Amino acid sequence: MKVAIIGTGYVGLSTGVCLAEIGHHVICIDISEQKINKLREGISPIYEPGLEKLLLKNSSAGRLQFTTSHHDGLKDAEIIIIAVGTPQREDGGADLTYLEQAAYDISTYLTSDTIVVIKSTVPVGTSEYIKRTIENSNDKEINFEIVSNPEFLRQGSAIFDTMKPDRIIIGSENIKAAKKVRDMYSSLKVPILFTSIRSAEMIKYASNAFLANKISFINEIANICEAVGADVEDVAKGMGKDKRIGEAFLRPGIGYGGSCFPKDVKALVHTAKINGKKFKLLNETIAINETQQELLVKKALKRFGKLKGKKIAMLGLAFKPETDDMREAPSIKIANSLTKLGVKVVAYDPVAKENAHKILGDTIQFVDSVYEAITDADAMFIVTEWEEFKQLDLVEILQKMKHPIIFDGRNCIEEEKIMQCKAIEYYPVGRPEIVIEGPK
Ligand code: UGA
Repeated sequence: MKVAIIGTGYVGLSTGVCLAEIGHHVICIDISEQKINKLREGISPIYEPGLEKLLLKNSSAGRLQFTTSHHDGLKDAEIIIIAVGTPQREDGGADLTYLEQAAYDISTYLTSDTIVVIKSTVPVGTSEYIKRTIENSNDKEINFEIVSNPEFLRQGSAIFDTMKPDRIIIGSENIKAAKKVRDMYSSLKVPILFTSIRSAEMIKYASNAFLANKISFINEIANICEAVGADVEDVAKGMGKDKRIGEAFLRPGIGYGGSCFPKDVKALVHTAKINGKKFKLLNETIAINETQQELLVKKALKRFGKLKGKKIAMLGLAFKPETDDMREAPSIKIANSLTKLGVKVVAYDPVAKENAHKILGDTIQFVDSVYEAITDADAMFIVTEWEEFKQLDLVEILQKMKHPIIFDGRNCIEEEKIMQCKAIEYYPVGRPEIVIEGPK
């Protein structure tokens, strides 16, 4: 099948690469010349495990192309996928500017009957609006159908999630168009659910909001566990064994971030509001998440009394491991709070340094290894659970610190390792703290 994709962000690029991998002829369109030039050279503009390998493989096989020209890209496309960003507006709603531009481009450069698939996360009713926008600006005798096909991939595992999704949602009012989109995915052999366009759009928001809710729920349980002396990791495990609850997304920590949950949860609250409803539960989900991001700073304040003049090593900056994405990363709030309190923050992240520097500037110091960060530090904050941090040789590390104190915002250090230390103070989230006093 000949597929055109508008937008080469996480969703557009991962989808393009994977559709090419399963045999389609894919052309990805983006307005950024710099991005397209990089992609043509086989370089991925984002850090995403496995993506570059498939990019190179499918580009050399001639199944994957890149262009800045809508004229070339949209020509004869059987399916056009819109995968542009829908950033958050001031009022919490979704900004549809890029989507509207894609609609104008489609109506201008459409050359044959086609199906327009909306993959971007869009508020309910948007796909119909985009259909009208294309129709109103299209004076050619060309037919097209609109399909809502939301994306559920996660950054850091985008290729796996695209090749092996739990389900594919196809929302359409036209059976022929829905079946054609199903055929595009047929070799993936995963469950497909056909719905109306509006239900498909809602499934995306409801899914992200539910997952964010699960995270805020377990974080609240974690806070209560600390108060009553229970261990949230055991509690989450015990809860998760119940199939009705499930084990996924019950990892406690310092809150969710990224380009999706914070934005989509607020957008759903906004949708409820403009439709005369109040989504009280989600308002709490947001509030809990914001408070949770302050947890490590509060714990450190409780431990030290005041933080002015201290040096804190911050391990991890990206909003989650296996990505260099800093959007809505808890590390931003933590770094800002610490610097306001007069702390010298020295941060290390395996891949997000450059992006973090764009946001935090010179307010904190960026270094290239854990060892540089922790040398002479008064405390260590673990902010992102990179595998590298789980593997740390604690005995060696703690010797380099001024004080062997760890605040683990992701509960990623094994208890066994902590118990091997001669002296350590370890403060996890929702679990009993461990204090081993060294020889006096
Ligand atoms: C999320 C959804 O998981 C995807 O299904 C969806 O397609 C995507 O948003 C999107 O809308 O595009 P993503 O933001 O890439 O994916 O990352 P997640 O793995 O969902 O993590 C989001 C945040 O939640 C991270 O900050 C992570 O640290 C946090 N999290 C996740 C927890 O704190 N606890 C958990 O148990 C799981």
